[in-house]
Formats: sequence, C-alpha cells, structure tokens
Amino acid sequence: MQKNQKNPYDRREFLKGTTAVAGATAIGTLLPTGMALAQQGKLKIGLMLPYTGTFAQLGVAITNGFKLAIEERGGKLGGREIEYFTVDDESNPAKAPENANKLVQRDKVDVVVGTVHSGVAMGMAKVIRESGTLWINPNAGADEVTGALCAPNIFRTSFSNWQTTHALGKVLKAKGHKNAVFITWKYAAGEQMMAGFKEGFEKEGGKLTKELYVPFPQVDFQALLTEIASIKPDAVVAFFAGGGAAKFLKDYQAAGLKGKIPLYGSGFLTDGVLDAVGDAGEGVETTLHYADGLDTKKDKAFRLAYAKTFKLQPDVYAVQGYDAGQLLAAGLDAVKGNVGDKAAMIKAMESAKIDSPRGPWTLSKSHNPVQDMYLRKVVGKENKNMGVAWKALADPARGCKA
Ligand code: PHB
Repeated sequence: MQKNQKNPYDRREFLKGTTAVAGATAIGTLLPTGMALAQQGKLKIGLMLPYTGTFAQLGVAITNGFKLAIEERGGKLGGREIEYFTVDDESNPAKAPENANKLVQRDKVDVVVGTVHSGVAMGMAKVIRESGTLWINPNAGADEVTGALCAPNIFRTSFSNWQTTHALGKVLKAKGHKNAVFITWKYAAGEQMMAGFKEGFEKEGGKLTKELYVPFPQVDFQALLTEIASIKPDAVVAFFAGGGAAKFLKDYQAAGLKGKIPLYGSGFLTDGVLDAVGDAGEGVETTLHYADGLDTKKDKAFRLAYAKTFKLQPDVYAVQGYDAGQLLAAGLDAVKGNVGDKAAMIKAMESAKIDSPRGPWTLSKSHNPVQDMYLRKVVGKENKNMGVAWKALADPARGCKA
C-alpha cells in the first residue's frame, strides 16, 4: 500500500529544543538563494520499508530515526521542505522491483531510503542501478549491495552481513570454544552472516560443524533445537531478528539449552526484543555496531530525543535510520538542496564524517560504513557494551569495481 504522507510528527516538541537551528534556517530562507530553493519545490523522499510482518517493528524504528534527524534540522534539508512517499514492502522480495518502481517511476522521488530485508534490497538494486536514483540503505545487509552491485548512487548506513558476524570468530576463540553450530533463516542475510562467521572462526582455528536453516519467515525451531541438543556443540551462533528473534530466544530457553550450550549471534538476535523475552536473553553475547551504555555525548542526546519524541527506547535500527538522515543532510547541505548536482552531492556524502550515536564512522570506497564492532552481553534489559571486539571493521567489498 502506498500513502503520500504529510509529516506525522508534532514539531512543537522539537522546536522547543531546536529554536536556534530552526531560526537559522528561517533567516536563510529570506535570502535570494532561499527564493531559488523555494522554486525547486519540496524534496521527495521515498521510504521503502516493512511496516507489516516479522520486520514491521524494524521498519518503524528506521522511519522514526530518519525523521528525527530531519526534524533536528528544522524539518528541512539543504533548505528544502520534505515530502514523504511511503511503501510497505512487506519484506517480500518477489514484490521488490514493483514496489521500488512505485517510488522511482510513479512518484519520481529524489532519493529512496530502504530497506530491511536483504532479498528485497537485491530486488531494489536492479531498479536503482537502471534509474540512477540516489539510494540510502538503512539496514539490509546483502553483501552484494556494496560488493558486486556497488555503484556511485548506492549508499548504506548500516552494515554488510559479513561485518556483523566476522568478529565473533575471535570472541569464541577467546572463550575457548573449538566448534560451533550456526542456526538461521534460509535467505541471503542468514547465509551471508553464517559465511562471515565461518571465515572469522576458521581463521582462529575453530570449526563450524553444522549449518541449520529454517525458511524465512518461519519460526518453528523445535526440530532444529532437538538436533542441537544431540550434537552438543561448544557454542551455538544465531541470526534472527524482530519477532523471529524473540521467539527463538524463548524457544532456546524452553528447550533447556540455555545455560547448557552458550548462545551467541549477530546483535540483531537481542536488539529491540529484550522487553518481549523475559529472562530468555540473559547472558547472550553478540557482536554489533551499536550497544547500550556507550556513554557518549552524542548517544545520550540521541536516546533522550528519541525517547521523548516516540515514547520508545531506540535500538540499532533507529540509529541506522537516524544516520541515513544525517548522511542525506551532508549531501544536500553541500549542494544547497540542488539534487540535480548529483556529482557534488555524491562527493560530499562519500567524504562525510558521520557523528553517530554508535560512534563516528566514515564510508568505505564501496559506500559501506567502516565502523567499530562492539561485543555486547545481555544484562537485564540491556545489550551491555563489553568493549570493542573489532576496531574499524571494513567490509571486504568483494566484486566492487567502482
Ligand atoms: C537482512 O535481511 O539483511 C537483515 C534483516 C534484519 C536484520 C538484519 C539484516 O536485523
């Protein structure tokens, strides 16, 4: 379903805290360049995200984070007001080209922001590469997006799937685990996170003894948990996210495996789900580019603003959406809202230093964040920061010729 949305957020709350920024923007619009900008009309932003299904909560968090970044800039980018176009992609890869074309061909958006699911991102990539539309991907980790399919107009503010599990090899080695089983959904994200882990673990002399898969988005884990109990590996590593992650954590505990075989994962396993799982997540260790308790000025300010605005605690998805807004702002500021000056805009985005709640990051040549990977441990309702597991981890960008 596609809706042409007006900004749904109450701006009064924002304006209380951002009078100086909003004031500066208002003065800017009185100048002659402001008149020229007004003639450019509103900047059209297409949001292609899941708003239904197992990743619905992730799509909402990304949308919230993105709009927060825009509202902190007085609701404008490069001096231009924003018009949002929204498509619910349902995390359905089969509909991805058609959905992307709704934004690109029909609505003629200036920039597409999306999505969550790697398979959907692969379907978007073809449309985006053919049209040359600017694309900021605020989650989907498909390695190809900043690998073999990399392009000047394609940016990612999240991670590659490879990045999220690669550091786990070192972590498991340090714990003395010699073998492990990987369990995930059978689709690109699960397979690539498994491969990233395998590569990192084998480099450390570990052995991945079994790969276990359930079809996406199914959450019937019982048979595989029974298999894990009989294999008795040193450790289990998992990728699930959203509603699927919550169900997996509860089932792992109910199967009697919690406390017997240590559970690890990419941090999506425990991000944004701890309120829903009781103590089933307690002690689970994961790697990710965000954590609770980072204790930086930027993170504190972001968390406060997010909680105040949305009456929700932010998670990694909210951070990635927020940074998508920040990256777009860097590009549009450089060209004063003139998206027609694509080369200058891309150049500014490529060299942006993003002051993120996760910590500062820059983009690699293939337009993927080079970022610290934290080791996190679930303590109560927090993914507690246990330190940096891998400093400035860059995706290898295999196959990227740009
Ligand atoms: C993906 O499909 O790329 C994906 C989905 C959800 C996550 C992480 C990656 O939490």
